[in-house]
Amino acid sequence: MDILIVCLGNICRSPIAEGILKDKVEKEGLNWIVESAGTNGFHDGEHPHQLSTKICLQNGIDISSQRSRKFIKKDLLEYDLIFAMANDVIFDIQRIAQDEYREEKVQLFLEPLYPGKLQNVPDPWYGTEKDFVEVYALIDKACDAIINQYANHQKQFS
Ligand code: 4NP
Repeated sequence: MDILIVCLGNICRSPIAEGILKDKVEKEGLNWIVESAGTNGFHDGEHPHQLSTKICLQNGIDISSQRSRKFIKKDLLEYDLIFAMANDVIFDIQRIAQDEYREEKVQLFLEPLYPGKLQNVPDPWYGTEKDFVEVYALIDKACDAIINQYANHQKQFS
């Protein structure tokens, strides 16, 4: 199963999610591919935000080799599941994907954790270290919920 996690800049939230989910997938022995992208492309080629890198490292996860890349239309074809960090990201994905948009592939990242609640992962971009710590904890819980929901349904996608 190929999963893409998407936020706006691909430097704060989705790199944390990529790092955590990859780590859990490896520990669970799942053969999922996990990658991330951002809809605005403002930070193309950049490392993750230094606070994202710092908080991940404090939790034993090294995301320093990740580089930001822009979400493209073709991603709708390439991935089985696309997780958007927030509603505005879903609108961006629809705008970029146009006729390639596949509603069944796209959902909010917090949907498996809080089904039907339409919750967004808060953007820590303008925040402090505390905001990054809180976002890390939320993303970590959400990754557990994703593993629980999809680990047994893997055959559907492979
Ligand atoms: P992210 O945070 O979407 O979690 O990576 C942001 C980073 C940069 C910008 C917006 C959000 N920006 O507009 O540059």
